[in-house]
Amino acid sequence: MNIKKVAVIGGGTMGNGIAHVFAMNGIPVNLIETKQEFADRAVATIEKNLERMVQKEKISVDQKASTLDKITVYLSIEEGVKEVDLVVEAVPENLEIKKSVWTQVDTHAPKQAIFASNTSSISITKLAALTSRPEKFIGMHFFNPVPVMKLVEIVRGLDTNDETYQAVEEASKTLNKVPVPVNDMPGFVSNRVLMPMINEAIFAVYEGVATPENVDQVMMLGMAHPMGPLRLADFIGLDVCLDILNVLYEGFKDPKYRPCPLLVKMVDAGKLGNKTGEGFFVYN
Ligand code: 3HC
Repeated sequence: MNIKKVAVIGGGTMGNGIAHVFAMNGIPVNLIETKQEFADRAVATIEKNLERMVQKEKISVDQKASTLDKITVYLSIEEGVKEVDLVVEAVPENLEIKKSVWTQVDTHAPKQAIFASNTSSISITKLAALTSRPEKFIGMHFFNPVPVMKLVEIVRGLDTNDETYQAVEEASKTLNKVPVPVNDMPGFVSNRVLMPMINEAIFAVYEGVATPENVDQVMMLGMAHPMGPLRLADFIGLDVCLDILNVLYEGFKDPKYRPCPLLVKMVDAGKLGNKTGEGFFVYN
């Protein structure tokens, strides 16, 4: 199946990045948000990130304009999914919200449309079961910042069929991304490996082994990570990290995924990282 038009539901950090890369690679996008102000903010972010690419001479001014032209904003799921081949959902990691979104999408999207969730932690099999077409449901897990990171972790649910996998693999290549197939288990591969590292870095601070600056320096200078695990945790959002660790902890019933008490305390205090201006580091 050839993906000629997509709907992206949710214009937050991941959603606007996903809309950006589809549109930039020539695929028209219906960007669906709940309110005009959220949609305006998403389009403004895409414009800013495209302008950054123009400044770095990665795209031309014309490419920036044609990318923006390919994005149409909708404030209704019913209208936005009517004529698309693929729906990518990037709404908050809350099962109730996802349930409401997928029920509406299932009712109004064309029968042949493929459904993909960008969830970082909720079971693809469980989300697929909310729809009438689990064989057409798949995980398309993008990474922040989406225009920069090459990976799309493609997560097969229990019933995902080969045709769906192939169409999504092909679409990911069209985006100049590298698709990597994984099966549906808590944290998939990416967060199953990344989150214990971040959690362990937080334990190192909690136990007084080193300061956040020094933990990050060790990993950047000794292991060539582009940013240290604590700055990365701030970048992802400490609330998101805690949610994912809880999914791993509950999903495997294994104490090795126990979230560090310091992480829990910081989330309780509302220190969520970049988005609140403070996490392990302070941001302007
Ligand atoms: N849009 C377009 N381009 C962007 C961008 C954006 N949003 N953000 C950064 N860039 C570009 C910059 O223009 C720059 O381009 P250049 O190489 O041509 O100069 C390049 O990316 C690097 O950016 P900067 O120079 O501003 O800054 P850094 O060199 O410090 O890189 C970074 C920033 C790309 C974020 C780098 O630090 C990095 O790779 N960090 C790790 C990110 C990571 O691990 N992401 C995954 C998080 S996990 C996740 O998302 C999954 C979820 O389930 C938790």
